[in-house]
Amino acid sequence: MRILLTGGAGFIGSHISLLLLQKGFDLVILDSFVNSSTNVIKVITSYVEKKSSKCNLKIINGDIRDRNLLEKIFIDSIKDSKPIQAVIHLAGLKSVADSVLNPLGFWDVNVCGTNNLLETMSKNECYSIVFSSSATIYGLPDSLPIREDHKVSPINPYGETKVAIEKMLEGLYKSNINLWRICSLRYFNPVGAHPSGLIGEDPIGIPSNLFPYISQVAAGRREFLNVFGDDWDTNDGSGVRDYIHIMDLSEGHIAAIDYLTSKESCFEFINLGSGKGYSVFEIINQFELSTGVQIPFIIKGRRVGDIAKCYADISKAKNLLNWFPKRSLEEICLDGWNWQKNNPNGYIL
Ligand code: NAD
Ligand code: WQD
Repeated sequence: MRILLTGGAGFIGSHISLLLLQKGFDLVILDSFVNSSTNVIKVITSYVEKKSSKCNLKIINGDIRDRNLLEKIFIDSIKDSKPIQAVIHLAGLKSVADSVLNPLGFWDVNVCGTNNLLETMSKNECYSIVFSSSATIYGLPDSLPIREDHKVSPINPYGETKVAIEKMLEGLYKSNINLWRICSLRYFNPVGAHPSGLIGEDPIGIPSNLFPYISQVAAGRREFLNVFGDDWDTNDGSGVRDYIHIMDLSEGHIAAIDYLTSKESCFEFINLGSGKGYSVFEIINQFELSTGVQIPFIIKGRRVGDIAKCYADISKAKNLLNWFPKRSLEEICLDGWNWQKNNPNGYIL
């Protein structure tokens, strides 16, 4: 089965790519490398070839906003007699802070880029898509754990683009309900790294997310962690989130592809998280316990746009996809540290 993976060189995409290739899928990765390194492709290719000899991978360095390029990708696959049968759509901009400063740039890439993709898929009779949505769309939770029928009220342009795309997908499905097979996976906080330590999260510049920041403190790249608030309405005053191992998240995509393949047509929103909430202090403590590396921190004021608690109800993923997270917080810390200590400066560009 040939799958187009947009954004396949990114943090999440690289882990999904490796898993799909190991399972024998034929993969086309489209990535502009605006937020990833081309080195990751070499790492993935050599790992897969060592493990399973065959690596059916085609890399296209390009932008999802390039309609002609998208059309060529689909047409060339048909000419290869390997038509693209499904798309896992990860390409996009994801920084909340950047979205506040550059909302139009986020609407252009995330929404216009996705519109390009969907129109090209439709034109080439490819009707299966797994989309990377985000728990950000829920905004300030009314209730916890968060179920998929929780109100959707994003509080930043990034989250608004994800909601807009989900609306596009819903409209597309309703336009011909016997045709499209769509899963919108709402990721909570993907963290950690592949157990080999060969691929992991390598944010450009200063990490805005907790886990890569802690990893860089442990690697000596950062002096200390800033804890954004210890006066939240949580057990220990620090923010609580749902951290899911990147490999559990990646396996969730395989389960979603299998689910789409089994259906005539469908349209589902599905939370992908661990179903547990951990505080910043709990993450720091677990990281230190698992790795033996101390994480110095200072308490700062709350970060604009932050919320106290957010964690998922994952029963729908369990019931519909027969998927559940298998890896512990300890494995998240060990695998994340294994990547960072082996690659203190990330993928060397
Ligand atoms: P990432 O930035 O590591 O990966 C995104 C990839 O898309 C990068 O390789 C980047 O080069 C590529 N890209 C960006 N704009 C592009 C364009 N116009 N054309 C082609 N390629 C483009 O981010 P990630 O953490 O792997 O996230 C992947 C997806 O999952 C994103 O859509 C993000 O919004 C979503 N998501 C991420 C998180 C998270 O915490 N990481 C949580 C929820 C949802
Ligand atoms: C986690 C907790 C912070 C950094 C973000 C995006 C969301 C999604 C996942 C794309 C919070 C605290 C953090 C630091 C800290 N990405 N923190 N010091 O904010 O839950 O979600 O990433 O879809 O859209 O909003 O993740 O890792 O930034 O923060 O104290 O240096 O760690 O306050 O409580 P968040 P995060």
